[in-house]
Amino acid sequence: MSSLMVLATLDALRQQVKAWKQQSLKIGFVPTMGYLHDGHLSLIHLALEHSDRVIVSVYVNPTQFGPNEDLAQYPRDLEGDQAKIEQAGAHALFYPDDAIMYPDNAQTFVNVKNLSRPLCGEDRPVHFEGVATVVTKLFNAVRPDVAVFGKKDYQQLQIIRQMTQDLLFGIEIVGGAIVRESDGLAMSSRNAYLNPEQRQAAACLSRALRTVRQAFSSGTHSADELLQAAKYVIAEESLAQPQYIELRNSTTLETITEEAQASDRMFLAVRVGSTRLIDNAPLAGPCELD
Ligand code: PAF
Repeated sequence: MSSLMVLATLDALRQQVKAWKQQSLKIGFVPTMGYLHDGHLSLIHLALEHSDRVIVSVYVNPTQFGPNEDLAQYPRDLEGDQAKIEQAGAHALFYPDDAIMYPDNAQTFVNVKNLSRPLCGEDRPVHFEGVATVVTKLFNAVRPDVAVFGKKDYQQLQIIRQMTQDLLFGIEIVGGAIVRESDGLAMSSRNAYLNPEQRQAAACLSRALRTVRQAFSSGTHSADELLQAAKYVIAEESLAQPQYIELRNSTTLETITEEAQASDRMFLAVRVGSTRLIDNAPLAGPCELD
């Protein structure tokens, strides 16, 4: 018999959370858009380390997709996700529909101004408003004590941290390490769009990050030189078209123009075929790329 609770309505979710809170259990939350891979499962494991009961949401949020993006073709597999969530040891799956998340005439949107502008915000102008809005709604629905987000979407993680602080949510935000394929490619549901040739080419992102980390540890600290090193690796891959290659402060996401520090991060967005891939890494210190 399945031990995973499957909750499709707000009432069912709230009743369950209330019962757990009455028992003083700490609630962990992992929001996802489904089509789960090992990266998501590692976030569930991390949530289990930080809480007594873990709720995973699966909802493909329409407002974070631009008009010409992949909302319609975004991969979905609720049955497979349910099995993986249960196997990973989570306690409940919440899968709301659009009518729950965006009731008729919904007019309230959340905008984390400065952090949403650079990097992915330039190519995807509506994306982070959609993310901040849906995460706010999910936080209000679930009312978790702790929520876990992956560092692959590092800008998203910083935006959620800022929003949680600004809106007084009182939720602990935990960042989960990037989980990578054996050649270094960061796991992502969108990797499913890559054909075999593109899949091979996609390893150039992690190769570029590794090259930059090696350059930094060998004494190259000039922002320009580090950026050139990353650009060179991406340019060598004929199927890759860079969207941005940037060096930024890990907390404020401000651009680094002169000497880089160990905690600064390299951020990449690269199109391989029609698939847009992102990745990032700190210049030094512990990292899954080592
Ligand atoms: O990272 C994601 O999968 C999504 O952006 C999130 C946080 C679930 C919001 O839809």
